[in-house]
Amino acid sequence: MSRIFSGIQPTGNLHLGNYLGAIRNWVRMQDAHECIFSVVDLHAITVAQDPATLRRGIHEMTAALIAAGLDPERCVLFPQSRVRVHAELAWVLMCTARVGWLNRMTQFKEKSGKDREGASVGLYTYPVLQAADILAYKATHVPVGEDQKQHLELARDIAIKFNNDMGVELFPPPEPVIEGPATRVMSLRDGSSKMSKSDPSDQSRINLTDDADTIAAKVKRAKTDPDALPSEAAGLAGRPEAANLVNLMAALTDRSIADVLAEFGGKGFGAFKPALAEVMVTRLAPITSRFNELKNDDVAIEAICARGAERARAIAEPVLAEVHRAVGF
Ligand code: ADP
Ligand code: NA
Repeated sequence: MSRIFSGIQPTGNLHLGNYLGAIRNWVRMQDAHECIFSVVDLHAITVAQDPATLRRGIHEMTAALIAAGLDPERCVLFPQSRVRVHAELAWVLMCTARVGWLNRMTQFKEKSGKDREGASVGLYTYPVLQAADILAYKATHVPVGEDQKQHLELARDIAIKFNNDMGVELFPPPEPVIEGPATRVMSLRDGSSKMSKSDPSDQSRINLTDDADTIAAKVKRAKTDPDALPSEAAGLAGRPEAANLVNLMAALTDRSIADVLAEFGGKGFGAFKPALAEVMVTRLAPITSRFNELKNDDVAIEAICARGAERARAIAEPVLAEVHRAVGF
């Protein structure tokens, strides 16, 4: 039996990279597996947040996930901070993880930028909290985008070392599930950085809440090159912006790259971009309208968060009790 855990930060809008790289897979998994999904607000405060904006963000991300297809009856959906096991287990696992392991994490280097000394300690130890998120539920599989691969390897190393150190078989080493045609959606502004909530430019991403005109304008302005599209996938080599847009078309229409190029090969972006924008609008419109309905229903969202947290605690608290016994508490 497999148990799935994954999380998403409540900072900013859900974007197409989150959706195609992660959320769409979550939605597909929720019937076949026991699934636990968290809005990871403890992770959000590793960088400065305005409290009122964060509170609203947690609520809106919950609404957005439901709008995108998660059903709180068929999966456990909750804000991370409401289940104290995450923070408590993170402490124990910080005593398992090695400084050298964290020093190798590339995302810390990217996110801390030039002012590494000024970064929060939480930003540095973030991957250990992420390991705690997963291991608190003894999750076996973690569906994520490619950017999370290194953190998942760390979670496995922590699980294995904890088991060895304590002489127990407590944590199953979790496996990443990085699948689908869009595990790394790139920014619309350049082909070399990933589409991200934390990119300061809103032009770089398609938000699931963007309206049709905004989507059309963003796609129109997306960076491309002057050449026509190739008729075969090999022709996309060395053209990262073109490859990203073709890949988005393939992922959104559930077609292969070859199929998309069979239709658009030889055509320029003047023809391709409006077609891509139309597909995005068609796919996102139902999500946007559900989101707009749900986001103002504070009572319903609060009830979902409270119920999700209760179900999550029922799984995680016995695991923490086992951890305490193994450690000697
Ligand atoms: P962001 O990086 O936009 O802040 P999160 O860190 O909250 O997003 O990640 C939520 C999920 O979305 C993770 O599984 C992550 O791997 C996935 N994800 C984020 N950005 C992308 C992207 N550009 N392409 C594919 N998957 C992505
Ligand atoms: Na990320």
